[in-house]
Amino acid sequence: MMTHAKSADWNPRSEDVLNDQIAAYDAMRKRCPVAHSDYLWWSLFRHEDVVRVLEDHETFSNAASNHLSIPNAMDPPEHTPYRKIIERYFTVEDIKAFDPECRQIADTLVADQPRGETVELMAGFAQPFALRSQCAFMGWPDTLHEPLRQWIGKNHQATRAGNRAAMAQIAVEFDGYIKQQLVIRRDAGEQAPDDVTNRLLQEHINGRPLSDEEIVSIVRNWTVGELGTIAASVGILVHYLAAHPALQAELRQQPANLPDAIDEILRIHAPLIANRRVATCPVEIGGRKLEAGERLTLIWAAANRDEAVFGDPDAFDPERNRDNNLLYGAGVHVCPGAPLARLELRLLMESLLANTHEITLVSDQLPERASFPACGFSSLPARFR
Ligand code: HEM
Repeated sequence: MMTHAKSADWNPRSEDVLNDQIAAYDAMRKRCPVAHSDYLWWSLFRHEDVVRVLEDHETFSNAASNHLSIPNAMDPPEHTPYRKIIERYFTVEDIKAFDPECRQIADTLVADQPRGETVELMAGFAQPFALRSQCAFMGWPDTLHEPLRQWIGKNHQATRAGNRAAMAQIAVEFDGYIKQQLVIRRDAGEQAPDDVTNRLLQEHINGRPLSDEEIVSIVRNWTVGELGTIAASVGILVHYLAAHPALQAELRQQPANLPDAIDEILRIHAPLIANRRVATCPVEIGGRKLEAGERLTLIWAAANRDEAVFGDPDAFDPERNRDNNLLYGAGVHVCPGAPLARLELRLLMESLLANTHEITLVSDQLPERASFPACGFSSLPARFR
């Protein structure tokens, strides 16, 4: 671990950055593509540098958390058997089996939205969709929607403030919700529902059952992945279609183009800002020298807009950009939940386009951008007709 102080190249929590993160990261990619700050340590903004880190997990370790965090704070070989368990929950069959229930959630939510009046879509549409889909996927009751919604907000607030004590306290609160679900299923024995949570209770790792701490950690990872990023993605997608009526009309005519369009819109406007690594040995990246133990932050929101790879970062071109899109990461930690995320986002957008004539922004009520570590919008007034 470095002991001497380093001078900062930028301040990730300055008002300029928080007001418009994506524009700020674009500027950093040009001005100082590997930049140091006390808050994020070494931030990588270029596609090339981020890919190099993703492909070299020996030099750039994921063991950057002080807490048990399965699987994303683990490196191979420890990571590998956990990862194998997790992948079993996102197979083609699992996703197909969840399709009807997820479609129902999407259709109900779309039908419930008022037509012709302004709706605050983050609270009224995006967050409820993320919560309902996550709880349905896990087999959890609707009564968990509200506590989980509040939990995500508190978690973001504590992370933004860098308040470790609050973050630990919030993690304990989350663990309580999950442990309760485990107890309910254990007590039910043979009568327990055949859901994802109950399946996790039966899993073995290295010849022994998964411990409750391990199950809770796995589920915490899924839930954070799901609630924050899915809600942010929904807001970004609706905003983009409202702001690009020609594309909206085209996708209404040809919903088969939605999967590629969704990935491309989320390349342009990231729903997940960053993930972390730690250098295991002295290494040079982007002309900067890092010591062993120094931390890195991979800024997906910048790497996915790198002119060197994508040309004009705002040009919508799914075909051209598909292969380099880092929306779901790459390498051994590539998002295992991507098939589920893609299903949920596609079904919601299909339902929205099929059941509305028009999605518009509201000229006198501007959307508010969310700030780090959240992204997308904190408030998105819009109208469906
Ligand atoms: C639009 C939605 C989502 C986006 C953009 C997204 C993106 C990502 C990215 C970029 C990574 C790589 C992180 C890294 O390299 O450090 C990742 C990892 C991960 N994601 Fe997602 N994700 C999404 C939804 C989900 C969902 C729905 C789940 C599960 C229910 C999930 C579970 C995970 C897990 C467990 C990991 C860690 C994998 C590992 O370390 O091996 N994600 N995600």
